[in-house]
Amino acid sequence: MTSSRAVTFIDLEKKYSRFSEKLHDDLDRVLSSGFFILGNEVKQFETSVKAFTGAKHAVAVANGTDALVLSLKAAGIKPGDEVITTPMTYLATASSIALVGAIPVFIDVDASLNLDPDLIEDAITDRTRAISVVHLAGVPAQAERIAEIATKRGLVFIEDCAQSLGATRNGKMTGTFGDFGTLSFHPLKNLGTLGDGGMILVSNQDNGQWLGQARNHGHAGRDDCDFWSINSRLDELHAAFLSSMLPRYAEELDCRRQLAQIYREELAGTVQFPLISQENNASYNWVMLLVERRDELIEYLAGHGIEVKVHYPKLIPELKAAQNGCRIHGDLSNAKHMVKRILSVPMAEHITVEDVRYVCQHIKTFYR
Ligand SMILES: Cc1ncc(COP(=O)(O)O)c(C=O)c1O
Repeated sequence: MTSSRAVTFIDLEKKYSRFSEKLHDDLDRVLSSGFFILGNEVKQFETSVKAFTGAKHAVAVANGTDALVLSLKAAGIKPGDEVITTPMTYLATASSIALVGAIPVFIDVDASLNLDPDLIEDAITDRTRAISVVHLAGVPAQAERIAEIATKRGLVFIEDCAQSLGATRNGKMTGTFGDFGTLSFHPLKNLGTLGDGGMILVSNQDNGQWLGQARNHGHAGRDDCDFWSINSRLDELHAAFLSSMLPRYAEELDCRRQLAQIYREELAGTVQFPLISQENNASYNWVMLLVERRDELIEYLAGHGIEVKVHYPKLIPELKAAQNGCRIHGDLSNAKHMVKRILSVPMAEHITVEDVRYVCQHIKTFYR
């Protein structure tokens, strides 16, 4: 079948070409500074993200996975400890738990596809030390309820905000409800650099200070080291790139929210959507639908030049890597039901209102 329009899911060339001049200036400035690691560019970017999110402290690191691992370490999570988490996420939310030797405990999701707060307390054992949630696709989980449970039960609360920078709940940014909020600046994230990058938003000053050392081998100074740690520094160049792009991010979020609204209006009555409750203002790393006859629909849309994705086709406990050292609490029935229906439709910098209408028109035709 021939297509009259191509709507791709990703177009990184377009994403970054908008900033081309600034990025070249950044490269020149960093190059001529002769300073490439942990300098003013990183400091400035940390300050800007703090201002944007309202976080008390921000520590830039090399990527979003390290941000999770280092947060768990800062929280004192040790081998054998249990961390309650979600089965519907990118695998790093869970692998980070296993990487510190702890046991990911998977519980079911709610109608937003995020960790269901109603199921947390039942999963707590005397080994439970933390709760780690994701705000999937940028739709906030019920973070204030989870924070309340964490406080009441003496647990650490980690928010994986790799997909949710700028998403809010009652005006409060994701990443500021918990003890730690982790960000990824991978190119496929809403705010991405030209490579890898990450950050940890931290509510407690001591944790912030520890993480500042932990990202840099545990150094206490050039010739001193307080504890063994890894190298997980954000490069000056990436910090410079990200600082150039951050000022346009609020505008970018507005565009995404407008496009998401069109999807919802156009497709109301044709497909379902994960619940986005009133208090949420999502960041839409992508837009998720809940559809029937998914494989057929994907093929039909591809025939019309429309690229869609599934984030993610397997629940984390189904992965080979998760067959040992994990625990499943409950039947995960909602997650199992939803994982067969989720479909992500195009949502990015290169997507126009016309593209969204074109995608919706074909989805409606498919189901007619
Ligand atoms: C939910 C989630 N957590 C963690 C990560 C890991 O981030 P990074 O790729 O920067 O290590 C990602 C990135 O794909 C993600 O989507």
